[in-house]
Amino acid sequence: MTRILVIGATGLLGSRLMELGKESYEMHGTYSRDKPKGSNMHRMDVTKRDEVFSILEKVKPDCVADTAAITDVDYCETHPEEAWLVNVDGTKNVAEACKRIGAKMVFLSTDYVFDGKKLDYSEKDKPRPMNYYAKTKLVSEHVLEALGVNYITARTAVLYGLGGLGKKNFVTWIIEKLDNKEKIRIVTDQHNNPTYSDNLAEILLALYRKDAKGLFHVTGSDCLSRYEFALRISDAFGLDGKLISPTTTPELNQIAVRPEKVSMVTNKVERVTGIKPMGVDEGLRRLKEQLEVKE
Ligand SMILES: NC(=O)c1ccc[n+]([C@@H]2O[C@H](COP(=O)([O-])OP(=O)(O)OC[C@H]3O[C@@H](n4cnc5c(N)ncnc54)[C@H](OP(=O)(O)O)[C@@H]3O)[C@@H](O)[C@H]2O)c1
Repeated sequence: MTRILVIGATGLLGSRLMELGKESYEMHGTYSRDKPKGSNMHRMDVTKRDEVFSILEKVKPDCVADTAAITDVDYCETHPEEAWLVNVDGTKNVAEACKRIGAKMVFLSTDYVFDGKKLDYSEKDKPRPMNYYAKTKLVSEHVLEALGVNYITARTAVLYGLGGLGKKNFVTWIIEKLDNKEKIRIVTDQHNNPTYSDNLAEILLALYRKDAKGLFHVTGSDCLSRYEFALRISDAFGLDGKLISPTTTPELNQIAVRPEKVSMVTNKVERVTGIKPMGVDEGLRRLKEQLEVKE
């Protein structure tokens, strides 16, 4: 049976890949801090080269989905050395180990590699990252290319869903705030394509099955502002949208610079997999069903 190792199996995407992959593959996962439930879990810190090589040589996966990263964009800005160590050196360790054992590598990058100065970004557009997190991701994209490893890089955006060890994402955070009747201010001037983690996981598995290679944009199909997204969330979950008020990025004082509008074109991944990524309404509906089953 084909074996897949998910690095970062405790994360939002990693945990969903573990769950959805187990239908067809022998799944193994890694964690770096708290051990999650389930079998085939291995402790691994991607910054420790020997550890990475020893686990890949022991598990011998056909495919490694590397979802491990420091994903907090502001934290990366204030802790650049740590961000580089995990997001670049860690990725390089995984890529070199994949090359050594002949495994395919699936790597996750971000829509933030673009500056948002044009409409509709395809894989052919030139990146220009505006924050440190995005720089680490772009350098890692180049590292994979330069090493000649057999890779898929998927650039994604604003992941939401139910997964990981209780860490909040934009959607679960909004639901919690509105459930508690708290007032929140959300920016109207940051636009991206929110991506349902299960849909991303399904598409990554489909890319692997198709033996795809290279760079793909894999995001949800709707590009909308965080404010519009928050309103759609309140609608979908029957919560009070009047608790949400609009604000702007300058008022928010975020540490890292964010591009104003990055809309991603996903034609390439649609062509290769035959799957059209979900829009926000469908993603939220699927998430709601998942939450109802959990309760
Ligand atoms: N979330 C988004 O909106 C978004 C947008 C664009 C791209 N992406 C990319 O998509 C991927 C998945 O994102 P996500 O939101 O699912 O991530 P996440 O929930 O923040 O999880 C990150 C994972 O990385 C692991 N990790 C962190 N440091 C590590 C280290 N030194 N060694 C090994 N593992 C380490 C964590 O394991 P422990 O908890 O055990 O430490 C965790 O499993 C990432 O590459 C991210 O950059 C995410």
